[in-house]
Amino acid sequence: MDIEGIRKLNDWVRESDNIVFFGGAGVSTESGIPDFRSVDGLYHQKWKYPPEQILSHSFFERNPEEYYRFHREKLVIEGVKPNRAHLKLAELEQAGKLRAVITQNIDGLHQEAGSKKVLELHGSILRAYCSRCRKPYPQEVINHGEGVPRCSCGGVIRPDIVLYEEPLDQDIMEESVRLIRNAEVLIIGGTSLNVYPAAGLIRYYRGSRLVLVNLGETPYDSYADLVIHEKIGEVFSQITV
Ligand code: OAD
Repeated sequence: MDIEGIRKLNDWVRESDNIVFFGGAGVSTESGIPDFRSVDGLYHQKWKYPPEQILSHSFFERNPEEYYRFHREKLVIEGVKPNRAHLKLAELEQAGKLRAVITQNIDGLHQEAGSKKVLELHGSILRAYCSRCRKPYPQEVINHGEGVPRCSCGGVIRPDIVLYEEPLDQDIMEESVRLIRNAEVLIIGGTSLNVYPAAGLIRYYRGSRLVLVNLGETPYDSYADLVIHEKIGEVFSQITV
């Protein structure tokens, strides 16, 4: 364990009431959801098409059957629970120290842990809507059953997630920029910082307490004021609120 790093992180957390957290798939691996780019992640598993292609707008339009096979087999994981990282973030918000969680994850685990202010850059698989008339549908329709779910209007029902080739929600992006620009402490965790525009958000931070908690190295390691290469749940369980 990086005792020195964790001590510094604890000092910065104690001294601030304006912390923002920005995270990715690595936040949920300790809950049993594989990430995308680690060796045992989703992108290294065998599938008929590369997952990046299946998770794209044009693929969904062309081949919704195959998309839904992948979605139900790989994106929907039953029985997952928030881990120590999710729970600590909810606790920090409750204590008036954390302003927001900005996440690339689509699993809803931050909200389940009790976090109130969660900005979902890539949407959520817990919401669905008709791609033609935009009527909302409960998540069971997309996450369970078989085949391609259809709306009463005949349109294909889709998950409320951002697929490759699709733009991010402008309001969520703008609010994320504002929060990061004004943050005193920015903690980034469990993300390879490889996917844009989300990864570019880090550039808006203007403070001097940028913390990176990630198992592997990232392209932004030299940019951070503190880097901890450990499991985020283990690190966060040692933060005292
Ligand atoms: P990645 O899979 O690219 O990166 C996850 C990072 O988390 C890796 O650098 C791991 O080393 C690290 N990691 C894994 N477990 C960890 C743990 N317990 N503690 C700390 N770090 C850990 O996932 P993201 O960066 O989230 O987009 O990927 C970004 C986007 O790419 C996703 O939102 C998704 C994907 O394609 C879309 O689907 C649009």
